[in-house]
This record gives sequence, structure tokens and C-alpha cells, in this order.
Amino acid sequence: MAILVTGGAGYIGSHTVVELQNAGYDVVVVDNLCNSSEKSLERVAKITGKEVPFYKADILDREALENIFAKEQIDSVIHFAGLKAVGESVAKPWEYYENNITGTLVLLDVMRKNGVKNIIFSSSSTVYGTPDTIPVTEESPKKECTNPYGWTKSMLEQILTDIQKADNEWNVILLRYFNPIGAHKSGTIGENPNGIPNNLMPYITQVAVGKLEKLGVFGDDYDTPDGTGVRDYIHVVDLALGHVKALKKIEEKAGLCIYNLGTGVGYSVLDIVKNFEEANGVKIPYVIKERRAGDIAANYADATKAKNELGWVAQNGIREMCEDSWRWQSNNPNGYED
Ligand code: NAD
Ligand code: WQD
Repeated sequence: MAILVTGGAGYIGSHTVVELQNAGYDVVVVDNLCNSSEKSLERVAKITGKEVPFYKADILDREALENIFAKEQIDSVIHFAGLKAVGESVAKPWEYYENNITGTLVLLDVMRKNGVKNIIFSSSSTVYGTPDTIPVTEESPKKECTNPYGWTKSMLEQILTDIQKADNEWNVILLRYFNPIGAHKSGTIGENPNGIPNNLMPYITQVAVGKLEKLGVFGDDYDTPDGTGVRDYIHVVDLALGHVKALKKIEEKAGLCIYNLGTGVGYSVLDIVKNFEEANGVKIPYVIKERRAGDIAANYADATKAKNELGWVAQNGIREMCEDSWRWQSNNPNGYED
């Protein structure tokens, strides 16, 4: 039996394929490559020494999905495929709802018609909106999202919850990721954003590699220790290992489960700059800018539930995250492009 990984050529997907193959799972990837390169999977194969069966297809394409389910013995699905740029989602809400929500509905329909009722879904800390108290637990209320991307995650959580409630043969695990950064230790796979990065760490690494001049720090007047935004950064390999643990939980008939995947530690923007400089001996010039619309002051996870129920704890600290992000970027200044 194999695990179908949608969006498996992407940043978190490719790292998860490595850890699944290392744990002995057979993996099949479907990705339309709208935000990734097939080269990531070639590099995964080099890391693990195992081929990665790959279908270039869109999850909106029902026929293509049916073909995959007919050919492969799929047991469970890890569902990463989706559009994820917050700002773009504000400008193109229809495209985000269509791709993320309709795409998932098509996937779920093909799954149930094929009797495959195990799914791990990539959710996000964004579903907590502006939390009343931090750290957030899985019991913290879901709040208003500040953008259509966030709403797709919040709505898909509800859709998956309702589907599991109606048919308890389903096992649904919602994983709420905090802020993934870092890269595989080999430095051969990593985050590869199109154009100017929106997220902090890829922006920093592109400054470090000389592609961008200086970092803009979005606001230094938040109610945080140094005034800059605080987040829970988590190493992408730890995140990937969380999916392997979640699969074990599915094998025990999980029903519906929700887990935060974070470290439980918050770092400010300036903490990240300082740690990156110290870990890598590279200077990151920065300038303070206006706050970015939709940003919150601080958020970090209470990850106790994942520890107790999955036996999962993030192993890598901020230094490893900074070193590994830099190893990837400095070895691959243009990402997967030659
Ligand atoms: P990514 O863009 O690198 O990976 C997503 C992959 O999905 C890409 O390879 C893309 O080509 C593919 N894809 C998109 N739409 C598709 C479609 N219709 N059919 C087939 N393939 C499609 O992003 P990532 O950072 O690896 O994120 C993976 C998942 O985790 C996403 O669902 C994202 O929303 C979620 N997530 C990411 C973060 C983060 O900060 N990176 C945080 C929380 C949640
Ligand atoms: C982190 C901190 C910024 C860039 C987003 C999504 C969230 C999730 C993860 C998918 C903030 C500051 C950033 C820059 C800066 N993705 N910053 N200068 O906003 O916490 O979360 O990605 O689910 O849904 O919203 O991550 O990396 O963009 O920002 O000062 O050039 O860095 O203001 O405090 P964020 P981020």
C-alpha cells in the first residue's frame, strides 16, 4: 500500500516524502508543478536512494485522480496541494477558493469512491486569527482570518470535520503548522519561492546571497519584547516527521484529530536576523518599515498535545534552522533553476 502525497514536489511535501521513504513507506506524488519543480523529486530520490513515482496532474482534474487511484494501491493521502500566498489570495480570492476548496472536494470524492478514507491535511496557525492568549492550544477558538488563503484552511478544516462526523470510517488529521523554515541537511532541497519572497526566512536568505539588498522589518511597535512580530518557527524536517507520526496515529484508527505542529518557542523578527547572522557569519542589513496589513503581533504554539498523543517533539533549534536555510540557499542561489 502507498501513501499519496498531493503537492509532494513543494517545499514541505518534498521534505515529507524523504521522511516517509526513510521510514519505509511507499510514496506516490501528485503535483501540477504550479509552484514547484520536478527537480525537487529527483533530489529526494538522491537523498533516499528510492525512486519517487510522480504524476504531473491537477487535483481539480477528477479523471487524472481516478487514473492514479486505479493504478496505485493508495491507503492514505497526505494533502499538501494548495495555493499559499497570503497577499495573492487577497487579490485573487476566486482562484484560491477554486484551487484549494474545489480541489480538495474533488480529491475527497475520488478518495471515498475508491474506499480510501484516511487523510492528513495541511492546516495552519492562521486559523487562530488574532488569539486572545498565547501559546495557542488546539482548544483555542478559531477566529476570523485576515485573508482568503486563511479562510480556505479554516473552511477545509470544517469540511473535513463534517465528513468525518457523517462517516466514522474516515480518519482525518488536521495538522496546524506554525512557521516552517530550514531545509534538509543535505542542502539539496529547500524552499523555492517564485519572485520576491513574502515570508521572512526566504527573504533573509536572498539578502544573504546578494539577490536582495536589505530586509524590510514590518513594524517595530508591536507589544512584543523588541517591538517586532513574534512567531513559532519550526524546522521543516521536524514538520515532515510530524506527518510520519500522524500516519501512525491513522493506523490506530484516529477518527478526527487536530494537532499544532510548532516548537512552543516564539522568536521576533530581530531575533531571527541575529541568530541567522551568528549561525552563518553573514550580515543581514535591514530597515524598519510600516506594519504589514493583516499581520498579528505574536503567536506561538502549545505543542503538548502532539507530544502526548503522537510522541512528536521538534528536535531542531533556531541555530539549525538558520544554518540549514542558508546551506540550501547558498548552494542553490537560484533554487531549482540552473
Ligand atoms: P508549496 O507551494 O511549496 O507546495 C504546494 C504544492 O502544491 C506545490 O508543489 C504546488 O505546485 C502544488 N499545487 C498547488 N495547487 C495544486 C493543484 N491544484 N493540483 C496539484 N498540485 C497543486 O507550499 P508548502 O509551503 O510546501 O505548503 C504545503 C501546504 O502546507 C500548503 O497546503 C500550505 O497552504 C500549507 N501550509 C504552509 C505553510 C508555510 O508557511 N509554508 C504554513 C501552513 C500551512
Ligand atoms: C513572519 C514575521 C512579519 C517578511 C505566513 C502566513 C501563515 C503561514 C506562514 C501558511 C512577521 C515579518 C516577514 C519580511 C518581515 N503560511 N516579516 N519582513 O506572516 O507569520 O505567516 O506564513 O499557512 O498563514 O500568514 O509569516 O514569514 O510572512 O512573517 O518583517 O520581509 O516576519 O511581519 O512578523 P507569517 P512570514
